[in-house]
Amino acid sequence: MTDIKIEIINQLKDNYSYLLHNNNSLGIIVDPADDEKIINVLDSKKLKLECILITHHHSDHTSGALGLIKKFPNAQIYSPAELSSLKINNISNNSKVTTTLNEFEIFSAPGHTLDHVVLCDFKNKLLFVGDVLFRLGCGRVFEGTIDQMHDSLNKILNLSDDMKVYCGHEYTLNNLKFLEHVFKEDIILEKAKKQILQELEKNNRTIPFILGEEKKVNPFLNPNCQMSSEFKKDNSFSNLEFFRYLRKKKDNF
Ligand SMILES: [Fe+2]
Repeated sequence: MTDIKIEIINQLKDNYSYLLHNNNSLGIIVDPADDEKIINVLDSKKLKLECILITHHHSDHTSGALGLIKKFPNAQIYSPAELSSLKINNISNNSKVTTTLNEFEIFSAPGHTLDHVVLCDFKNKLLFVGDVLFRLGCGRVFEGTIDQMHDSLNKILNLSDDMKVYCGHEYTLNNLKFLEHVFKEDIILEKAKKQILQELEKNNRTIPFILGEEKKVNPFLNPNCQMSSEFKKDNSFSNLEFFRYLRKKKDNF
């Protein structure tokens, strides 16, 4: 197994971009927003840019691509969406991207946007989910339907528990507040809160997180986790109705 290092680069207000490398000479960037900041990190590690991977077309995940390509014109871009003047390699459901470090398998995950993809490196157990899944939450449904978003989260739910998840934003604390509001005094949530507060104190971030742990505490991801099950039973919701209810409530929170 290649020993991949992942640098988490804070972007804009609460975005994350990710740099993958192995201390050799090349780096891979996921979802660039602030190119200057990313170039500084690449320079400090004496890395050249091999390629950029994009999860969806929103500008807070793509706006750094132009500046990066200006500095590293030979770098490839893998994107599910056109990026104005830039030449891209289109990725969609079941695409594979092979880099000098690893291989990404791509699957489509519409809902937040129609073009959204999730990037999976099964060998190294890495999952880049953009704005589909957040810790204790999920993305807003802007372009797709609730059913599509529910299906997309279901695809992630079916992946193995040992995947490490890297998402597009630091929204965890706000997501926690929402869950506390809906699922009052839930014991599992209380436990998750303790851990999240510790992580924030230590690293000022709650990313990455382990998919198997998330399946226990995120009702958007797992309609059958303990807190969901009780709530669904009381309100006689199907999984999809429960997701629709939660997403709508969160939109107005
Ligand atoms: Fe987005």
